[in-house]
Amino acid sequence: MKWDPSLECGVEHVDNEHKELFKMVSHLMQGSKKDNFKEETDKALDFLGKYVVKHFANEEKLMKEVNYPNTLEHTEIHAKFVITFQNLRKKFDDSNGSITVATEIKYAAMSWLVNHIKVIDQRLTDYVKANKQNK
Ligand code: FEO
Repeated sequence: MKWDPSLECGVEHVDNEHKELFKMVSHLMQGSKKDNFKEETDKALDFLGKYVVKHFANEEKLMKEVNYPNTLEHTEIHAKFVITFQNLRKKFDDSNGSITVATEIKYAAMSWLVNHIKVIDQRLTDYVKANKQNK
């Protein structure tokens, strides 16, 4: 999976974090044939989980700064994804490192990320950009 420039929202720090998230999700499963797959995937999921939370916090800070009218809706969507991710993470642990579950996480996270960026984040960044132009 390659980053597609059509995913760029036009606010640099947001785009940079999205690219980083995209890279992390794309790299999941790369070591699926290695003996230490479970350990590597555990580490990657821990890192991804922390980065997701950090990214959401940064976006929510931006929403406050511009007084974004859809803050509540956007923040709730973030919170729901964190719970979904935690549940999938637990499923991976409970499966003792199943490749099938790791694949499910990768595709679920990628699909969520792409859809979220294209619709929900784009709406926010359009607002941020319009707000700057009006100042
Ligand atoms: Fe880029 Fe709303 O997450």
